[in-house]
Parts: sequence; structure tokens; C-alpha cells
Amino acid sequence: MDQGSGAVVQRNANLVRADLAHPAWRRPSTVGRPTRLAVRVAPHAGQLRTNRPGPAVQNRPVALLVARLRNDLTTLSELAQEPVVWTDAGGELVAEVREAAVLAEAALLRLAANTGRRSAGELSSLSTLADALHKHVGRLSGQVGQLAQIRQQLFQLGALVDAVALGITPASGQIWDIGRKIVRWLGDLERPVFIYPDPAEPALQIAAHSLNVAQVVAGMCACDPAWLEVQELCVVAALLQDIGMIYVPDAVLESPEPLNPTQQRLIRKHPIFSASVVEHMTGGHKVLVDAVRQHHERLDASGYPEGLSGDRICSVAQLLAVVDVYVGMQSPRPYRPAKSVRQALSALRQYAQKGRLLAAWVSRLPSSEPLWVPIRTGPQPPEGLGSVPVAEPAAA
Ligand SMILES: [Fe+2]
Repeated sequence: MDQGSGAVVQRNANLVRADLAHPAWRRPSTVGRPTRLAVRVAPHAGQLRTNRPGPAVQNRPVALLVARLRNDLTTLSELAQEPVVWTDAGGELVAEVREAAVLAEAALLRLAANTGRRSAGELSSLSTLADALHKHVGRLSGQVGQLAQIRQQLFQLGALVDAVALGITPASGQIWDIGRKIVRWLGDLERPVFIYPDPAEPALQIAAHSLNVAQVVAGMCACDPAWLEVQELCVVAALLQDIGMIYVPDAVLESPEPLNPTQQRLIRKHPIFSASVVEHMTGGHKVLVDAVRQHHERLDASGYPEGLSGDRICSVAQLLAVVDVYVGMQSPRPYRPAKSVRQALSALRQYAQKGRLLAAWVSRLPSSEPLWVPIRTGPQPPEGLGSVPVAEPAAA
């Protein structure tokens, strides 16, 4: 990749660093969690250190606490093996996994050290601590699971794009499989999670943009009963709309300058290239082929490749057009910085007022700032970051 793509990566990295610094980058329930958790643990630890003899309690509840803590430690060890954890740009996921493991191990040691001398109050404190840790591990597991899923989808879609570049027509079942996963995954999202590959590669960049568009398309279809019925179809169209972009030279895609007329003509052919791929891939699925071919057409006939207007543009393409512009404006380009979601929505409303894009879709776009996540490649976990120790069972 040339300097242009390096600039893109750097801009993306700056965006993510700024985003990660914002407390809202995580789910609201997990904001500031490590600090709160430590504060909650400390009083319990103090009580345990002053462990005064009290009435003996039955072993069974303690055994349950130990079993749960050990399970949580096993879960944390598995999370540490997830590539999204050890390739995490800010190292925050790694830190959270390790911190939770340390707390769970400490709790197990306390349980082992106080056998037969626990009061009901001490047991209650330990239960509270174990519950807090269990919830914490559950949230962490969900977060890592989401990122792992979209990482997998990125590489699956990237492989399809690479196959197309080699002249191989992928089986349509593969793209429907990714589409279904996106629809399922969307149910757990509180705001858009936009991804970008790091390091940037053409196939993965195309795949990442398509996944980001598909995610928003899936959410917009879910808000309307009629569109919910064709949600997967629209998601698959979004995943395929730019697949023909792989035929456009990197030098054009990564140009730091506004494109000259020749380069623009090349870019404007990508819907035709995409439609050709989709035609072969799906055996001529008319809605998909039309949607992909027309996703850059505009209602006022100012689009491309054919300059269609109004209802001559298929309805799925009208939806893709709105979301594609929405995601594109929020993505940094070699020749311009990314817009905020507010700026993007403002520009889109103007387009709608001018009759270029369908106002009904523009009004349904998400207004929350997306979370931008780098999806990194790496051969194996860095030393010391790929696992957490799993404690030996404590005697109960
Ligand atoms: Fe496109």
C-alpha cells in the first residue's frame, strides 16, 4: 500500500484513539467499570483480612462460589485467546481481561484461606464479590464476542472480494450466510459499530465499508414491518454493492487528490462491475442485480451509471444510496477528513430537500455517534497477552 493508505490508517487510528478516550465508547453499564469494581472489592477484602471466628456455615454455598469463580477464570482465559483481544489497538480489552482474572484469583485464595471459619456476613460479602465479578465477565464476554463476530465476517467477506479479483465467482450461499449473521448480531447493538481494517488492504477496505453499510441497512429495515420481510435481501445487496470496486486500481481508490475526469469515469463503472459479479453469483437475481447496479443513482437523475430518476430506481437501491452516503461521509478519505454523524445527517437532509435522496429514509438514519473499531491482523498473541492464568481449585 502506498502513502495514501498509510495516511488513512493514521487518520483512522487518531479517530479511534479519540473515541476510546471518550467514556461513552463502551456500553453505558460498563462505563468506568474497572474503577467501580475495584472500589467494590476493597471493602470486602478488608473484611476478609479481619476475618473473625464466627458460626460455621455449610460448605455447599462456598463450593458453588468456587465453581463459579473457576468458570469465570476459564472464560477469561478463553477470551484472552480471541484475536480481537490481543490485537486490540488500545490494549484496553487485554487490561480488562487480566484485571478480572486477578480479582477472581484473589477471591478464590480468600475462600481457600478461610475454610471453616466464615461468618454469615463474610459469606455474604464473598457472594456479592463473586456476583459482581460474574456480571463483569459476562459483559466482557459479550463485548468480545461481538467484536470477534464482526472480525470473522470481515475476513469472510474480504476473502470473497479477493476471489472475485482472481476471477472466481463465489457461491451465493456464502454471502447469505454473512447477511444472516449481521441480522442476528444487530440485535445486541446499542449503537453502530463501524470497522476498518488495519493494516488497510483493498479487499478488506471494500468489505469493511460494505459491512458498515449492511449493518445500518439491517437496522433501518428492522424499524418497518414491510421492510423487515426483505431485511436479509437488503443486507446482502449492501454487502455486494461495492464488490466491483476491486477492479478499480488502488492508485485511484487511494488518490489523495480529488479525482480527475478519467479516474471518475473508472469509479463510476464500479456499480456495473458489481452487478456483473452479482449476476453470475446469484444466477441473475433481478432485485439484487438492480439494487447493486443502481446504488449510486439519484432521484433527480444526477447519479450514475445511467442517470436514472425517480421510480425508475428500484426501492432497495434508494435505501442503499442513503445509507452508503451516510456511512461514506463518516469515513475518512485520503482527500478529506471524516464528518461527524451530525454533519453527515445535516448534509443528507439537504440532499433530501433537493430531491436527490429519499427523505423518508434519511429521517430514519441513526443519530448516535458510531463506535469505530480497528480490526487488526496478527500472526499470534504478543508475549504475555495471549492468556491469563487459571487458578487451581481452592479447597472449599
Ligand atoms: Fe458504491
